[in-house]
Amino acid sequence: MNDQNPIFKTSQLEAADAEPRNHSANPTMGELISTRFSRRGFLAGSLAVSAIAATVSPLALLSARPARAQEGGSAFSFTEVEAGIDETHHVAEGYDADILLRWGDGLFADAPEFDPTKQSAAAQERQFGYNNDYVGYIPLDGSSEHGLLVVNHEYTNPHLMFPGLVTLVDGEITMNPLTKEQVDVEMAAHGGTIVEIEKVDGKWQVIKDGKMNRRVTVNTEMELTGPAAGHKRLQTNADPSGTKVFGTINNCAGGVTPWGTYIMAEENIHGYFTGELTEDHPEFANYDRLGIPEGSYEWANFYDRFDIAKEPNEPNRFGYIVEVDAMDPNSVPKKRTALGRFKHEGAESIVNKDGKVVFYLGDDERFDYVYKFVTAGTYNPDDRAANMDLLDDGTLYVAKFAEDGSMEWMPLVHGQGPLTAENGFESQADIVIETRRAADLLGATKMDRPEDIQPNGVNGKVYVMLTNNTRRTAEQVDAANPTAENAFGHIIEIAETDGDFAATTGTWEVMLKCGDPSIAEVGATFSSATTENGWFGMPDNAAVDSMGRLWVSTDGNNPSDTGRTDGLWAVDTEGEARATSKLFFRVPVGAEMCGPLFTPDDETAFVAVQHPADGGDDWEGFGRVSYYEDLSTRWPDFDDAMPTRPSVVVITKQGGGKIAV
Ligand code: FEO
Ligand code: CA
Ligand code: CA
Ligand code: CA
Repeated sequence: MNDQNPIFKTSQLEAADAEPRNHSANPTMGELISTRFSRRGFLAGSLAVSAIAATVSPLALLSARPARAQEGGSAFSFTEVEAGIDETHHVAEGYDADILLRWGDGLFADAPEFDPTKQSAAAQERQFGYNNDYVGYIPLDGSSEHGLLVVNHEYTNPHLMFPGLVTLVDGEITMNPLTKEQVDVEMAAHGGTIVEIEKVDGKWQVIKDGKMNRRVTVNTEMELTGPAAGHKRLQTNADPSGTKVFGTINNCAGGVTPWGTYIMAEENIHGYFTGELTEDHPEFANYDRLGIPEGSYEWANFYDRFDIAKEPNEPNRFGYIVEVDAMDPNSVPKKRTALGRFKHEGAESIVNKDGKVVFYLGDDERFDYVYKFVTAGTYNPDDRAANMDLLDDGTLYVAKFAEDGSMEWMPLVHGQGPLTAENGFESQADIVIETRRAADLLGATKMDRPEDIQPNGVNGKVYVMLTNNTRRTAEQVDAANPTAENAFGHIIEIAETDGDFAATTGTWEVMLKCGDPSIAEVGATFSSATTENGWFGMPDNAAVDSMGRLWVSTDGNNPSDTGRTDGLWAVDTEGEARATSKLFFRVPVGAEMCGPLFTPDDETAFVAVQHPADGGDDWEGFGRVSYYEDLSTRWPDFDDAMPTRPSVVVITKQGGGKIAV
């Protein structure tokens, strides 16, 4: 989701974020970074650097295997794309970028043809949903050429989806209220898609009669599991058991577990709820910490459960990590409450050396936190069924980053420290329902909007995307770099102690401060080998390929702040090339880049182009507000009868072979 188009839904959610939700006194990441930089300046680097080095164990250093670098240069071999902005996508020379799935494409043999002028909820339930975000690939029989593609549909842009919704009066935009049918289409366009795909003669195809093909929507029945399941705070008129909930909303990034299930993270849930609670209501403070109700969606006009005055516990049933057994189209998705309730960006995981599985979790809001979850049980690679409830039992931790480059993972466990009945936590259920408040009490470090957090099994590090934080005040930043990390974000690299991903301590450093390095005040730290095309702002999603190389996609680059669209950048992490970045793919005007996901053989990258044409007023090629009847791009069809369509793009090397090798 980006910051563009103040009139429309996307930005109404951002506007709700304008007032930071975290009012605790915990120090911000920016304050710590500022302190470190200024200390380093005083100490000429030596003492501060050695303090960090001293806490990295020799074992961790030995186990770190750098990705293949070319004579000290970039580990990535491709000719980069020229940064810029226009109506279409661009990929590096020598690669194909083919449209695999567009909003409205049929996912079943009996799916109706997409007709944007007659869209119905029934049709949408059989078609690819809107605003593709997380893309995962679950190999079938270990294949890199035949598998299940799993895709989140994060949110809807009605002004781009429905004809006749927007009216212009004296250049001012108004949007008509949505009809019930349009709301139903929105609800069916949310959720996720599971679809079988196969590479035939070098080209990926959708298998429409795949037995595991499935749409997950706001109407899919799900089960609440873990510490909060059945708790009275989760009980509603429709579900007195507190264990059954319909649907999932605002699924941003996600993950695929080592046992091949599909993870959907529930992120900006506040926008879907409306109504009011009095300040003395027991859930008032809980909801206020999450910005609930924000009310930019109109679903409560037709469905009481989205009105908190009528159904005050419903928001406690959203904001979780959802696990779906993609192999069984009849499986009931599980909301895993043990992983906490907040604005979950995603849940990327890694099998630790002791067999426990570690999930890294970002809470995407200004001044909110970085978490991880360590399973109590261990992963059994020989018995898939034995792993299916690993996410119900384990320890949730929140990160505290210290000024000396060390860090601590603090357990969110009932009865420990301040997490007791005196502070309103009667049990672990209260802690997972109000995770942010529990983390506040532990003194977690306030971050600059944590997005995707990617463990790297090759070099043993963990990469945290911090997208930006434009709300930080002057008192909270280094005076020498007053806006640099705020506006364009940065990437932190974590090294867990002894390379143990389940460790409760580690070390950290800022690997990269983003933005235009040619503007000194920005303070960006891309290597000098990075070209004017290679730098980026607003890191959002990340992936590592099987060689351990880092790829970063962005959310929020546009003509007015970076002179470029969002895209996918290849970022060196090792050796002299560290912090060198190259542009591999860029999106059309108004879009955001989601993904990537590499097949195990590294020969295919899937990327998701989200909300194309959502913006364009600040691009000289368009220069006005974009909406259904007057779009800044009609990508990918470029057909006047078709609106723009968020789509998954599949990237392969012409003639075959591994990407960027
Ligand atoms: Fe959906 Fe964190 O952006
Ligand atoms: Ca995103
Ligand atoms: Ca984002
Ligand atoms: Ca990722």
